[in-house]
Amino acid sequence: MFLSRRPDRIDWLKKVPLFSGLSGRDLDLIARQTDVVKADAGKVLTRQGALGEEFLLIVDGSARVERDGKPIARLETGDFFGEMSLIDGNPRSASVIAESPITLLVVESRSFRCLLDAVPALRRKISVTLCERLRKADTALATHN
Ligand code: CMP
Repeated sequence: MFLSRRPDRIDWLKKVPLFSGLSGRDLDLIARQTDVVKADAGKVLTRQGALGEEFLLIVDGSARVERDGKPIARLETGDFFGEMSLIDGNPRSASVIAESPITLLVVESRSFRCLLDAVPALRRKISVTLCERLRKADTALATHN
C-alpha cells in the first residue's frame, strides 16, 4: 500500500495527529528515521519487563495494552506506544498486543532520542499524550477505590 517514497510518507505523516502542524523540514526528518512494519493479529509488539528498543505508531489497526495480563487501554490508528522505556530507560511498563492485522511506523531508540532533541514540537505533543494517559489512569484508579 504504502509510503515507500519519502514524499508519499511525508504526505501521510501530515495527517497523523502526533505530527500535525510540524514543519516540512521536521516531517522530512521524521520520514527519514521511520520504517514501516506489518504484523498479524495476536502478535506481542512490546513485552512487559523487556528492554525498550523502539517507538511505534499505529498506521492501521488496533492493539490492546496489558499489564500483568489485564487490559488497561486500547490503541487505534494514529496512536503511539513504546515511548516510556525510551524516555526513562526502564523496562517496558506493559505489553502491547495487536488486536487486528496491524501496520506500524517504527523508530529505533537512538533515532527517537535524536528526533525528540531536534523537534521540540514532537516532544511537546508526546508530553501532552503522557499527561492525558496519566489523567485517565488517575480517574480509573479513583473510580475503583
Ligand atoms: P513502554 O513502557 O515503553 O512500553 C509499553 C507501552 O504501553 C508504554 O511504553 C506506553 O506507550 C503504553 N502504555 C502503557 N500504559 C498505558 C496506558 N495506561 N494507556 C496507553 N498506553 C499505555
